[in-house]
Amino acid sequence: MPLDRKAAFEQAAAVLRRNDRGGYTIPTRGLYPFQWNWDSCLSALGLRHLDERRAWLELETLLAHQWPDGMVPHIVFHVEDEGYFPGPKIWRTNRPTPTSGITQPPVLGYVMKRLLDEAKDKPLAADMARQLIPKAAAWHRWFYADRDPANTGLVAIIHPWESGRDNSIDWDEALARVPTEGVEPYQRRDTQHVDQSQRPHKAEYDRYIWLVQHFRGLDWDNAELHDASPFRVVDPGFNAILIRSDDDLADIADRLGKPALAAEARARAAKARAAFGALWSERHGQFVCFDRAAGRQVDSASVGGLLPVLAALGTPEQQRAIAALIRRWRGLTRFGIASHAPDDPRFEAKRYWRGPAWIIVNSMIADGLARCGLPEASEQVNRDSLALIETSGFAEYYDPHTGEGLGGGEFTWTAAMIADLVMNAGGSSLSPVAGP
Ligand code: DGY
Repeated sequence: MPLDRKAAFEQAAAVLRRNDRGGYTIPTRGLYPFQWNWDSCLSALGLRHLDERRAWLELETLLAHQWPDGMVPHIVFHVEDEGYFPGPKIWRTNRPTPTSGITQPPVLGYVMKRLLDEAKDKPLAADMARQLIPKAAAWHRWFYADRDPANTGLVAIIHPWESGRDNSIDWDEALARVPTEGVEPYQRRDTQHVDQSQRPHKAEYDRYIWLVQHFRGLDWDNAELHDASPFRVVDPGFNAILIRSDDDLADIADRLGKPALAAEARARAAKARAAFGALWSERHGQFVCFDRAAGRQVDSASVGGLLPVLAALGTPEQQRAIAALIRRWRGLTRFGIASHAPDDPRFEAKRYWRGPAWIIVNSMIADGLARCGLPEASEQVNRDSLALIETSGFAEYYDPHTGEGLGGGEFTWTAAMIADLVMNAGGSSLSPVAGP
């Protein structure tokens, strides 16, 4: 049965409203009861179709908890909730409102530009962009200062949680080098909300916690953490998001009459683009991670290596190869885009980031494919996103073979991406719905 787009919008809007906590949205009830960085930014792309002021407030709230060094943390613990581990008592970051001590993919600039470009209330959008752009620029500066101390042009993540793709196969080898001695006894909470078979293994969790304890032992001093971390990986997806956000910050800065900020963002993006070619793998026909601690490419074909289309990275031939690879993976499953190559023996269709399809990733890849001049590939990805919610509602992630919804239910960013897709289908063969 074809999807009724108006009904899809209304259902998505209901999820957004249910997860709204006033100044921020939670990703989902139970599993994630606080504000998460990239969830929150991407949610603004859906919230704007309900209330533009509320969408900007989502970003404003997140940035109110930026660290003095420029880092924007991955979780802001606005309330106390024992249903989540690790909470503030484990992180001990000593912030006025407790936060975690690591960051997440910087989709902020990408989101701000879309909020500004497509705003109905232009004065509000210009005013908010003017207020927020210095903070976004400080975050990007921080990335290249503290996560690329050797000045290579590309930033590393120092904890798998920073990637947002927590238990990806991409991290297996690097994470295996993280010790587990000295991990304080702990009780996981995630597996009380979601079946263990859809979540990371204990061996990974122990190492996630070891890294948190290690960084805490260094007083969360970002000037030291990169070099002190046994886990340092350059993720092509993460870097592509940062480059695209710098491209977008430069455009916003030009429009607001801030040429120095624009030039600075363009210089960062140009340097990163020049370094990016080293992440291409001929063997996999896509970009792959680089294990900075080990000094070699990671032998793993993941969605992180497809995301660079978001910033139109690679040659036109490489971009076409990525579109062909997405078709190939889809041919091995039923719904795109699996988070790992489905024919990799390490692939697991239901385990979080080791196989399932994620609608936020689909949304960014669809945007990127269109930007690379590959509209048909882009529309196929969008059609799959709609088919997934038609099959299983607004889940956190989906089994790419069956379309079964997995992880947390009534998930904010899934709803936000669908609300945005059905409202903004202009220019594609998907028809947009009339206003809410
Ligand atoms: C979790 O707790 O699984 C989160 O993904 C960490 O950010």
